[in-house]
Amino acid sequence: MSGLIHRFPIGFHWGAAASAHQVEGGNDKNDWWRFEQIPGRIHGGDKSGAACRHYERFDEDFALAAADGHNAHRLSFEWSRIAPERGRIDAAAVAHYHAVLESLERHGLRPLVTLHHFTNPLWIADRGGWENPETIQHFCAFVRFCAREFGSEVDWWCTVNEPEVFAFRGWSSGLWPPGRRDDGAALAVMANLLEAHGLAYRILHEQDRGGAEGRGRTAHVGFAKHLPQLEGDRWWFPLDGLRARLEDAVFNEAVLEAAVTGEIRLSIPGARGVTRSVPELAGSLDYVGLNYYTRWKVHMFARDPHVAPRGAPTTDLGWEIYPQGFERALLRVARLKLPILVTEHGFADALDKFRPRALIESLHHLGRAIARGANVIGYYHWSLTDNFEWADGYRGRFGLYQVDFADPALPRNRTRSAELYSRIAHSNALEPEVAVEVGLAL
Ligand code: FCB
Repeated sequence: MSGLIHRFPIGFHWGAAASAHQVEGGNDKNDWWRFEQIPGRIHGGDKSGAACRHYERFDEDFALAAADGHNAHRLSFEWSRIAPERGRIDAAAVAHYHAVLESLERHGLRPLVTLHHFTNPLWIADRGGWENPETIQHFCAFVRFCAREFGSEVDWWCTVNEPEVFAFRGWSSGLWPPGRRDDGAALAVMANLLEAHGLAYRILHEQDRGGAEGRGRTAHVGFAKHLPQLEGDRWWFPLDGLRARLEDAVFNEAVLEAAVTGEIRLSIPGARGVTRSVPELAGSLDYVGLNYYTRWKVHMFARDPHVAPRGAPTTDLGWEIYPQGFERALLRVARLKLPILVTEHGFADALDKFRPRALIESLHHLGRAIARGANVIGYYHWSLTDNFEWADGYRGRFGLYQVDFADPALPRNRTRSAELYSRIAHSNALEPEVAVEVGLAL
């Protein structure tokens, strides 16, 4: 093989993504911590506990990323640490995140900061969480605080992570806090998060004081959209296809449309829908954040309506490995004609067996999407280290660095995937040798 397979655009963000609660450890001030104490909620009875002790070891973790050629990092600020009680800001937590940002800068890692990644302070959860419209204003106050306090150190903001996943897991399937099963409430929650995103978008721009890049107004604001491919399972049973289309309409299309037009239109047959105009939401994306993991085959009546295609390769969590879907998802969001940041993408693979090849094949599809016109400006692999994978506990191992949670020293072990990723990040290109090494003829 000769020549490059793909060269990525100049200034491309190469990084890894994580969220506070999944890696930091030791925070009992949010609703996830409380949920983890309820027997039967988390796989194997796991608890986030000390997680990766990233709260203490962030500098060391960022050094690993920087040595691997990353030039960016996605993290989240933990709302419940910064505002552990209503009306109280915790100065030590604020100082902590300044130290985190200073460390990222020292390591040449440009921060992309998420302001809501699934967790809520207990005082918010106890007032009805995102079902209560007042939460929108409380969140806006937190966003305003962060914009003023950290705005000169952060140029890239992600307001909310996967509003649709958050709403459906918490209020429809009930697998996440608060464990409700009410589709109408799930839609109300999703609408409130979308409205909050629109308001946060305006606040972050109003407060923008020039940013770390020192070129006048520099805030880039978006949210992260989970975009699974949804397809009917049985071609001969059209109701499967119908359900897939209905789910796609509310879970994928309506969310993107709302952020472009400002019109929230959410409906599910048999549930109370939401129709709302939010002027601040119209045109509220400077970039589209895409989280892509898999394709689901959808069943009309099954208890678990989402399955991997029979016989397809799957990850440790049973998610299909489907790199072609990544290209399709990228081309789908490219229709919005906005820059695209891949805010998450990865594979649960405790032994790093199939990840090396799946990663390279996926980056090939990313390169193809760019060649086909998608304006992709960065990629954040989920995740830098293994971490607490929500209701799957420590069963979902997504790390470029494996963490041995049984060892109190929590050692980070570099995987082959980390090494391959590092070569791509260093050269800003996908070289034929890398593909050959993982057995791909591209
Ligand atoms: C995404 C979440 C992230 C992580 C990955 C595997 O839905 O945003 O926190 O759990 O899935």
